[in-house]
Amino acid sequence: MSKSLKILLAASEGHPFSKTGGLADVMGALPMALYEKNHDVRVILPKYRCVTDCKKAIEPIDIEFNIPVGSDSHKSRLAKSDLAEKVPVYLVGNDFFFNREGIYGTHGTDYKDNAERFIFFCRAILESCKALSFYPDVIHLNDWHTGLVPVYLKSEYAHDENFKSTRTIFSIHNLAYQGNYPADTIKLSGLPDSLFSHDGLEFYNQFSFMKGGLIYSDLLTTMSPTYSKEIMTPELGCGMEGLLKHREQDLSGILNGVDYAEWNPESDPRIIANFSATNLKGKLDCKRDLIQTFSLTVAVDTPIIGMVTRLSEQKGIDLVMDALEEMLNLGAAFVLLGTGSPEHESFFQKAMEKYAGKCGVRIKFDETLSHQIIAGSDLFMVPSRYEPCGLTQMYALKYGTIPLVRAVGGLQDTVKEYQAKTGEGSGFKFNQYEKKALIKSMNKALALYQTQSAWKNLMKNAMEENFGWPRIADQYLQIYQKALRCER
Ligand code: ADP
Ligand code: GLC
Repeated sequence: MSKSLKILLAASEGHPFSKTGGLADVMGALPMALYEKNHDVRVILPKYRCVTDCKKAIEPIDIEFNIPVGSDSHKSRLAKSDLAEKVPVYLVGNDFFFNREGIYGTHGTDYKDNAERFIFFCRAILESCKALSFYPDVIHLNDWHTGLVPVYLKSEYAHDENFKSTRTIFSIHNLAYQGNYPADTIKLSGLPDSLFSHDGLEFYNQFSFMKGGLIYSDLLTTMSPTYSKEIMTPELGCGMEGLLKHREQDLSGILNGVDYAEWNPESDPRIIANFSATNLKGKLDCKRDLIQTFSLTVAVDTPIIGMVTRLSEQKGIDLVMDALEEMLNLGAAFVLLGTGSPEHESFFQKAMEKYAGKCGVRIKFDETLSHQIIAGSDLFMVPSRYEPCGLTQMYALKYGTIPLVRAVGGLQDTVKEYQAKTGEGSGFKFNQYEKKALIKSMNKALALYQTQSAWKNLMKNAMEENFGWPRIADQYLQIYQKALRCER
């Protein structure tokens, strides 16, 4: 057996401490799965204000250090919590940067000093290792907010013997968010000016956190095999396709998993009744509950299409807006939980009034309601323009809520098209990003829904899918082992 590894996972958000999307879910589950494989796993996150709402004990620890950002010096204090009392979670405190209403911003607008905030965080990650005398074999970084860590390791800390054996993995959860800031951000970072070059941090004359992660990490991963190929093309490479193609040998696509302790209809405490593939009665109770929650006036055998999503272009929201009326005319009801762009929010608020009784909308972030929609709907729609992985379609599968998705990225890799002839498959997929394709696929789904025995068989297929983390943790461990063999 190979030796136990010291692994530090770093990200800008992690469940249950802070969450805006799937990155947080991954940070809440992957570390535990690695821990279960007998490794010394720890997590580091910013200590935002919302951390205090998470119902977990957060203990201050007696560790303080100063972090330079530009010509200022900012004090950081560490606090400590855990995942399931097993994995230590360090929270990097600094009231000026993190004790704010939002995580990245408020009311759809990013904080103006996000470059400073995440320079601070990147530096604090390495200073925390020093202060804790925890020198990881592997630092697993996630998304642009942590992209400068490998850059500091290979510059400022290059001669620090303690980090001599440390290797870095950088995971791309979403290539479209790159953390690109004005050129003079290099000054704030304290990195040498020489790194602001074409083969360094410069990206179209901006300073790019993402490029830092992509160039300076030992290995790269992204969140599904299909997305790993898509990001090497101009369509979805967001300008980084050349660089990614260059690093193709170092890039792996590893699907995300599902934390079945959180997302399991048999034990979920957030839904009105539990159910399983062999006893579906509770699912009908969940549907009735959903109808009541959203004041729908439809009969209980009306198919309900659910969505829980950030309201952003990525998620195909304009397609839904375009297709909504036709979907409802096909005899379906629609419920949506989401927050995001003001235009999208106001469209759906108005749609709820216009199609009262058939269309329910909640504009907020609500963990409990997200479980209730996933449990109580019949179909779950994820019509994304692009999708690195997507988690909600996998959650829906487990609850026998049939995904209807666009065949891109992780959606392509996790949903199997239903085959009428054999009864195989787990959902419905369409290719073209257009209303016609979406409606065609929906017609197929709604037609099958009329034959309850076939629909039940499809639900059973869906509920039998298994995206548990233990197998995925093994794939990451292989990548970590590969990283350890990389030259420094
Ligand atoms: P992304 O990270 O791109 O937003 P994912 O499908 O990977 O997409 O993950 C989204 C996560 O955020 C899921 O856990 C989903 O349930 C949750 N989520 C999204 N919007 C909301 C909301 N308004 N309320 C509660 N949970 C939400
Ligand atoms: C990003 C992606 C999403 C993925 C999540 C977790 O937010 O948009 O597809 O599931 O990260 O990796």
